[in-house]
Amino acid sequence: MLLAHYATLLSRTNKFHSLLTLLALAAFAVAQSSNDLDWVPFDRGQFNGNVALDEEGNVQLFWKTGNESSTFGVASRSSGYLALGFSETGAMTGADMAVVYKDQDDNLVFENRHAEGFVTPQVSQDQENNMRLQEGHQANGVTGFVFEKQNKADCLQTQVDVAKDAWQWFIYAFSDENTFSQHAPGNMGKEYVKLGTGKSVSLNEVRDIDDTKNFTIVQPELTVPTQTTTYCYTLHKMPAGNKNYLLGERPNESSELLHHLVLYACYGLPDEYMDMLGQEPNCDYETFSNPCSGFVTEWAPGMSGRTFEPGYGKPFGTDYYEYVMFETHYNNPEGLEGVKDTASYTFLYTDQPVATEIGTLTLGDIQVEGWFLEPGKELVAHSTVCTPECTDRWPSDGITAVSVFHHMHYRGRNARVQIIRDGKEITPLSSLRDFDYGYQFSKSLDSVKLLPGDKLITTCEYDTSNDTERVPGGLPSQAEMCFAWVDYYPANSVLACSHFDMGESAENPINGTAAICLESTAISPDLYHSDFLTSSFQNLSASGDTCPAENTVSGVSGQAAVLNTCPEADICFSVNVPEQSASSGTGDIYFQLSAPVTYSWVALAQGTMMSNANMFLMYSSADGRNVTLSPRTTSGHTMPTFNEAADVSLLEGSGISDGRMTANVRCGNCNRWDTGTMSLQGSNSDWLYAHHQGSPINSDDANAPILQHDRQGGFQWDLSRATGGSDTNPFTDAATTTTTTSPSAGEGQQSWERLSTQTQMRFVQVHGTLASLAFVAIFPTGAILVRLASFRGLVWTHGGLQVFGYAVFVAGAGLGIFIANGLDYLREPHAIIGMTLLGIFFFMPFLGLIHHKVYKKVQSRTLWSYGHILTGRIGVILGMINGGLGLQLAHARTSYVVAYGVFAGLMGVVYIGAIIFGEYKRAGRSSGKAAASASVYPESKRLDRDDSGSGSGSSSSHETAI
Ligand SMILES: *[C@@H]1O[C@H](CO)[C@@H](O)[C@H](O)[C@H]1NC(C)=O
Ligand SMILES: *[C@@H]1O[C@H](CO)[C@@H](O)[C@H](O)[C@H]1NC(C)=O
Ligand SMILES: *[C@@H]1O[C@H](CO)[C@@H](O)[C@H](O)[C@H]1NC(C)=O
Ligand SMILES: *[C@@H]1O[C@H](CO)[C@@H](O)[C@H](O)[C@H]1NC(C)=O
Repeated sequence: MLLAHYATLLSRTNKFHSLLTLLALAAFAVAQSSNDLDWVPFDRGQFNGNVALDEEGNVQLFWKTGNESSTFGVASRSSGYLALGFSETGAMTGADMAVVYKDQDDNLVFENRHAEGFVTPQVSQDQENNMRLQEGHQANGVTGFVFEKQNKADCLQTQVDVAKDAWQWFIYAFSDENTFSQHAPGNMGKEYVKLGTGKSVSLNEVRDIDDTKNFTIVQPELTVPTQTTTYCYTLHKMPAGNKNYLLGERPNESSELLHHLVLYACYGLPDEYMDMLGQEPNCDYETFSNPCSGFVTEWAPGMSGRTFEPGYGKPFGTDYYEYVMFETHYNNPEGLEGVKDTASYTFLYTDQPVATEIGTLTLGDIQVEGWFLEPGKELVAHSTVCTPECTDRWPSDGITAVSVFHHMHYRGRNARVQIIRDGKEITPLSSLRDFDYGYQFSKSLDSVKLLPGDKLITTCEYDTSNDTERVPGGLPSQAEMCFAWVDYYPANSVLACSHFDMGESAENPINGTAAICLESTAISPDLYHSDFLTSSFQNLSASGDTCPAENTVSGVSGQAAVLNTCPEADICFSVNVPEQSASSGTGDIYFQLSAPVTYSWVALAQGTMMSNANMFLMYSSADGRNVTLSPRTTSGHTMPTFNEAADVSLLEGSGISDGRMTANVRCGNCNRWDTGTMSLQGSNSDWLYAHHQGSPINSDDANAPILQHDRQGGFQWDLSRATGGSDTNPFTDAATTTTTTSPSAGEGQQSWERLSTQTQMRFVQVHGTLASLAFVAIFPTGAILVRLASFRGLVWTHGGLQVFGYAVFVAGAGLGIFIANGLDYLREPHAIIGMTLLGIFFFMPFLGLIHHKVYKKVQSRTLWSYGHILTGRIGVILGMINGGLGLQLAHARTSYVVAYGVFAGLMGVVYIGAIIFGEYKRAGRSSGKAAASASVYPESKRLDRDDSGSGSGSSSSHETAI
């Protein structure tokens, strides 16, 4: 409209000018309509959803959900790796990452990775099913790719589901570097995205709402007490009116010591509490009993503000509640003094009716105290039950849950609310995996319907592996909590539903566990005996996990990843760095030494040189049934001696059986020893090994005398690939995943390993082709020629051909050395023979030249001649044989072996035939030397003159050239 108007206006004045303006406007319009996303390197038409993941719109996510799998496209204005993660909480922990980067050969690589924590996500074992690349691009400062991901993970242990009908947390990271490593600050972020169709507004963000009022609840400034745990309470009156609705919440900036805020609704507040209004905070929490039990809202670390869906409101006012109790929890473990805090919370509200009245139901352990978690467990569950007697009080149509807030403290790992309807479990209300204390949020639900009579089981799972004593439930941060606050509609009177341990006493109306139902309409909670509590509810496993059972048991925090290397065929070493040690940089690591009893001792050491290395020796124990672990150090080339500073222990699974010694070792201070350090996250950590073959030492003495090593070597380990699992012996754990790597020993090895398998294959083929060309074709041809042919310039043709052959051999051998270095084949006979030939043949032209010059003078073979001839003959035959050894080493296909055998054999026969024929001819000539000399010498002399004059060769001195 406006455009048309503008156009007519212009056309009346200056036609040409208006045309230009119109064109410019059209171009502008086109650019606008395409939403400025033309830089995205793939077809955007294939998707039906798109959102910018960052504020500038430089990282764009596209999706199209399907029944079995969904398609995602991600593009970034950057020219290095790009990673998109599917996360449960917006944290990295437990996220499935799709990663694209360019390798050294400029090939685009796509990887499935899984993050076990805030560490570099590990390459997943499953590279085929979970996520599959469809297309990838990296050019002109843009990286983008399209991939498919299964909606339902095969195994929740190491993969995540796609929340295709609900909200999904996406995390991303990008770089202008192609090395996938720690992302730079700013080049990363998280976004909560609604993937399915329908509502498009995130609950977890601060948005402006038109025509709203606001009020702020302020806890007056206080000095945070120096004790670890403090709870403070202030009472506030809500804005006046019969019926108001909260529409949004904004927590305001507070002290870092603030652990959480809770706002409780006070229904039927007893008069004696009224004088708390307008008073200083009451921080005498151990004696203060909070009379307010309705739940309005909470803030916890990681949360932004919240804005309810349009049309949603949480009612308050004289018809509901007028007062709120504001609870602040300060955690001051370091006892900081003089920290001031003014906690406050701003609420947006309206006095106009809303379409949907939202209520909050408290599930979980409202008892807070009086329960305990078993210590030393990777995963320990705590469940509470909301019984049908209580849910029967819902409206007969039931309620619809729209979000849930799971709350635990530091040990929290997973949380869920399961629904039992008519005695059967149906799809859970919520299942949150990889809970992270620092990333708490209101989880949006895809409108889960709950019916009167449903039984709800709320379970929290904790990691108590750091604890040596049982962990109590309780108010302090160091204790644990288990809550699930469910927002639902329509709001009704049921505020909380759970169970309570009443203990046993004469005054109690019920002994033991009682069901509890709290209603806003009742003065006190309803405690009653329920048959539904007697059934087994503890540890009801989460539905939807198709992992093999043993994996589920081993704990969610991740399987131990063991890296295994055998630097020699019968000697192997393994390493594992527990998750915790990797992230903290210190702590236990685990390694294993394994070797036959034919070695009297075997050592693994950290470092690049034996002097100053942190050594661990293994030898047979006195009874010959176990091994002795002997940590040692040496400052020079003296016998290493016992290192008493080493914090090591020999673990279960160690011993001697089936002729092999095995030492499973835990080391508590392997990140730092007297003379060195090692990063527990190092991608190229240096290790050494040594051994001595011989009779068993049979000693329990960790300082037993040992004989000097007969072999030592070094290799590197990428410890990031050995990271995972909890701090337990990984070598006896069935769930451990082991990666075997060929020992990598420095630069050459690494550059070899970086090549693709195809390139490696090509290198091996080219090496083989060049070397056999030299030994099976060029060298013998040159030799046969000089033996059998007879023409002018033969000697120089021979020399030229052999020098050319040597050049070909040098190229082949160079490649060979590179390959042997990469595969640690340098000690193989094939490599040794090859390198020897390379060295010796270098002198052949000089030997040949001297021989030729001397021969011309003395007219008979000299030592120089035999040197040249014999070296040549032996060398060429050896080279032919070495080709066979090479084929064997490369496990070459039979067709290659046969072809080489036939050709080399044929050439060999011709060659040897030529030698014999030549020698025979020579012998014949020698016997008739006197007669023939007259004709031979002058010819030779004449040709030699030609030699210097015209540069042509001799035809008779070929005598000596083979
Ligand atoms: C609260 O209301 C006041 C006045 O009506 C306004 O100036 C202020 O920006 C509002 N605050 C928020 C957080 O909306
Ligand atoms: C256990 O201790 C380590 C090191 O102090 C810490 O990083 C980790 O978070 C702790 N784990 C739990 C579950 O608290
Ligand atoms: C609860 O246990 C106490 C002590 O064992 C007993 O005296 C009391 O009668 C019991 N009450 C009920 C309701 O069973
Ligand atoms: C060897 O010793 C370790 C550590 O004491 C022990 O755990 C292991 O069971 C022993 N092995 C055998 C075969 O006795």
